[in-house]
Amino acid sequence: MDDLVIEAKRLTKIYGEQTVVNAVDLHVKKGRIYGLLGRNGAGKTTIMKMILGLAPITSGEADVFGRNIKGNEKRIYPRIGAIIETPGFYPNLTGTENLEIFSKLRGTAAPDAVKSALEVVGLPYKDKKLFSKYSLGMKQRLGIANAILHDPELLILDEPTNGLDPIGIAEMRDFIKNLSAMHGKTILISSHILSEIALLADDIGIIDHGVLLEESSMEELAKKNSKYILLRVSDVPKASLILERQFHVKEYSVQDEQTLWLYDTTLDMAAINKALVVQDVAVISSQLCNDTLEDYFKRITGGEGIA
Ligand SMILES: Nc1ncnc2c1ncn2[C@@H]1O[C@H](COP(=O)(O)OP(=O)(O)OP(=O)(O)O)[C@@H](O)[C@H]1O
Ligand SMILES: [Mg+2]
Repeated sequence: MDDLVIEAKRLTKIYGEQTVVNAVDLHVKKGRIYGLLGRNGAGKTTIMKMILGLAPITSGEADVFGRNIKGNEKRIYPRIGAIIETPGFYPNLTGTENLEIFSKLRGTAAPDAVKSALEVVGLPYKDKKLFSKYSLGMKQRLGIANAILHDPELLILDEPTNGLDPIGIAEMRDFIKNLSAMHGKTILISSHILSEIALLADDIGIIDHGVLLEESSMEELAKKNSKYILLRVSDVPKASLILERQFHVKEYSVQDEQTLWLYDTTLDMAAINKALVVQDVAVISSQLCNDTLEDYFKRITGGEGIA
């Protein structure tokens, strides 16, 4: 599997008595945006810290570029840019000055690294504004600029849109997408907001109470959202017969003794309702339903949902 940039195998973290990450198998593919979705306390940050070697692994493995970080830091770190905790920027320096310091500390080679990193995140180069005067959105952008200074292949971003307003979130989404599409970066990003991941990620991992409940491409997941007509009637067997014989309906399922789901949403429901009533089947209700991603997550996470 040479196209895997991150591969976690049975990755586990136990704090005291609490298993906060439980045998997680995670697969981040080259060039893709992987969204790790989970509510507060699900274990997202802990997974990222273990992958980065910032928190010891209790058991299992986490390989990055085919190697365990431990013992390979010198080789692997230059290929990764990460924001886990807010980097400590100097409040009384400008954004450019801050990045220049970090760039020197890290020995970033390219002379125009600061300029191009700022350009990618849409912040002005050599702007006079002090970091202390930055809005939250600008601070988050500077954090990402800092993470990409050395032009890493892999970005690990822990909730980069936290605290941003909807416009800030949309802008952040655009340039993260751009980093993937135009610059070919592989990106692992976490969030507790479903809609955000749905709009951004190519692949998704859903984590709940430390367990990875599902891992799939967004494409596969979208197939699980279905549209159907929910038909409630007094007599399901009789209604099924009428649907099959008179209307040649084949794509349907029986949910309970009163409920049918019809998957062809173009059916002539007026005619169907009329035929049922005429043949002594009472129609209690008939409505078009759309099972959203959110419904799906609620189902698999056992009720509360994520967004
Ligand atoms: N150093 C620690 N010692 C003990 N427990 C910890 C430690 N760090 C995290 N935890 C616990 O591990 C669990 C997972 O925490 P983690 O920060 O990974 O979740 P998260 O998904 O990132 O949550 P959030 O969305 O709030 O950032 C939580 O119950 C947390 O209290
Ligand atoms: Mg977290």
